[in-house]
Amino acid sequence: MEESKLFTPVTIGPLMLRNRTIRSAAFESMCPGNKPSEQLLDYHRSVAAGGVGMTTVAYAAVTRSGLSFDRQLWMRPEIVPGLRKLTDAIHAEGAAASIQLGHCGNMSHKSICGCTPVGASTGFNLYSPTFVRGLRADELPAMARAYGQAVNLARESGFDAVEVHAGHGYLISQFLSPSTNHRKDEFGGSLENRMRFMDMVMEEVMKAAGNDMAVLVKMNMRDGFRGGMEIDESLQVARRLQQSGAHALVLSGGFVSKAPMYVMRGEMPIRTMTYYMNCWWLKYGVRMVGKYMIPTVPFKEAYFLNDALKFRAELPDMPLVYVGGLVAREKIDEVLNQGFEAVQMGRALLNEPGFVNRMRAEEKARCNCRHSNYCIARMYSIDMACHQHLKEELPSCLKKEIERIESRG
Ligand SMILES: Cc1cc2nc3c(=O)[nH]c(=O)nc-3n(C[C@H](O)[C@H](O)[C@H](O)COP(=O)(O)O)c2cc1C
Ligand code: SF4
Repeated sequence: MEESKLFTPVTIGPLMLRNRTIRSAAFESMCPGNKPSEQLLDYHRSVAAGGVGMTTVAYAAVTRSGLSFDRQLWMRPEIVPGLRKLTDAIHAEGAAASIQLGHCGNMSHKSICGCTPVGASTGFNLYSPTFVRGLRADELPAMARAYGQAVNLARESGFDAVEVHAGHGYLISQFLSPSTNHRKDEFGGSLENRMRFMDMVMEEVMKAAGNDMAVLVKMNMRDGFRGGMEIDESLQVARRLQQSGAHALVLSGGFVSKAPMYVMRGEMPIRTMTYYMNCWWLKYGVRMVGKYMIPTVPFKEAYFLNDALKFRAELPDMPLVYVGGLVAREKIDEVLNQGFEAVQMGRALLNEPGFVNRMRAEEKARCNCRHSNYCIARMYSIDMACHQHLKEELPSCLKKEIERIESRG
């Protein structure tokens, strides 16, 4: 049996991690006023104390127009002191700190982002639901610079790394995907054109990162629906990111507005999701059509591994981070032995913040997450939490829904 690499250090650009585990960017919904809170700090401190190599603070919008939820971070100078406290707490536990930077493009609403949502193309987004204004070509340099400015703010806040969000149907991904990019100018059409906005962003990001910040990019291997990006094109995107100087790629997939469960797999607990919603018409609308809008995609341990291995084979010199469906030490060892430099986990560390330390002690460690996706359904309206750790008693209708989903495995 090959020796486990799990607890060996790994280098990502200028950064060395104490081991090969990273808490993935999973939106905490703990930032009222779009600024960090004690709750966010406590959560990340617990993951850092739980032994992880690096924890990623989830999605921070690079401009106000990039906000998709009202409890989401928005990178601006006034939140630097709060973020500094957060990174100090993470560092004090021996872990590195990363922050995911992005823009949600068409997945917002005027009430949240303060303007008509902008995207790669003009249209109507059913997911929000909202009209969307396609960004003019002369607006794109400023948008790209906002990513660079956010990297500088991240450095000031004490982060060791940034993760550029280029997947899941966020703005960069809306430019890359032929299904959301209908532009007739030099930013639409051929893949070369569709990558142009990403290239501009990466130029600003790498300039700002200099030689002391690690840059990871989370990207889609597939968008997860017919008409979206597939592997042949996304491999070219990965090569371009390597040329841009990215230090590691996080290989994911799915499109929040078109194939949300492709990202996380399993079933979305619709009853739970609507239970927490405030807006009555959205509550009843989603209860009626939710299961058609958010179709189930079966869960399997390490569900992205087959696709990720194709990237491993085609990009021999690029550090690659595996994410998707890791819940057990044995599978993590297998993934690392297949040549991935590190692994990310979202739900496993939400279910058990100390899972990494337990894996050090137990070769057969497995967390107790059974993919009810309660945490995701809840996060849309209130804070992210695992149903196994709630202080409050859940109403029986939600308990039943979770039990039903978990019993299907
Ligand atoms: C509650 C929750 C929120 C998430 N929010 C984000 C996010 O803000 N950005 C992102 O790139 N992925 C997000 N994800 C996806 C995770 O980072 C990860 O890619 C996915 O859950 C698969 O990993 P897992 O099986 O280890 O959970 C979220 C996942 C969960 C469970
Ligand atoms: S709520 Fe469910 S899916 Fe989410 S971490 Fe807990 S057990 Fe896993």
